[in-house]
Amino acid sequence: MTYEHLQEAAAVIAQRTGREQHQAAVVLGSGLSGYAASLENAIEVPYSDIPHFPEPRIVGHGGSLFSAPAGDGAVLLFAGRVHTYEGWDLSDVVFGVRTAALAGASTVLLTNAAGGLGEGLSPGDLVAIRDHLNYTARNPLVGDNDDRLGPRFPDMSEVYSKRVRGLMRQAFASAGVTYREGVYAWFLGPSYETPAEIEMVRRVGGDLVGMSTVPEAIALNHMGVDVAGISLVTNYAAGITDTPLSHEEVTETATEARGRFTAVLDALLPLLVNG
Ligand code: HPA
Repeated sequence: MTYEHLQEAAAVIAQRTGREQHQAAVVLGSGLSGYAASLENAIEVPYSDIPHFPEPRIVGHGGSLFSAPAGDGAVLLFAGRVHTYEGWDLSDVVFGVRTAALAGASTVLLTNAAGGLGEGLSPGDLVAIRDHLNYTARNPLVGDNDDRLGPRFPDMSEVYSKRVRGLMRQAFASAGVTYREGVYAWFLGPSYETPAEIEMVRRVGGDLVGMSTVPEAIALNHMGVDVAGISLVTNYAAGITDTPLSHEEVTETATEARGRFTAVLDALLPLLVNG
């Protein structure tokens, strides 16, 4: 990935959507990507039409960018993301969100499906991410730093913007959904965690576990973008119940939660765009 590649991708997005600027962007996680296609007036651009864009390989993760009006501007929605466990370089994993930042997004919402272990969390809950733990020892900023993107040693003391968490609190309230916050722990996957790993995460203060989001958050924070995260708890994390974890359970819970997720996003997108 080079800065020029990001610029070329952002230029194609502007050209194909007819919008020079998108003020905000949303990455839709596993089982949640149907939200983009449900929007009226959304313009779809398949990832395969955007230069240098990596294309998701796993079923159920989609593979298109959508542009939709929201508030006083417009938002980009990524239906489908690529994951580190598929073998992608982290520069590819963060390519889409870095492109969104160059396309004008000063706020980016990252959503995901996650296992829940925090006190009081149950499958079906939507949880705003307050902070993260990185259990992969991987970082998208490893390698030469391009100063046009951000500093060599970025501060990480407020990756998940307090300002945007305030907007999320408002959006949850107007959607009639209980607002919760939690700490998300990134594991590489693709195997789920062991009960011992989940116990470790619990002891250090983690509430959610998943296989995405953190690399994108690190790259966006590097660029000075305000990041927000929402996890849909699709299952109890390993060892909490006797039920084995399965991808089917993850996608089924995501389907059941669609109504609440849609209500929250409908309320939140205009707030993200208008700031
Ligand atoms: N662990 C990791 N990733 C996940 C989980 C989980 O329990 N549920 C959904 N994505």
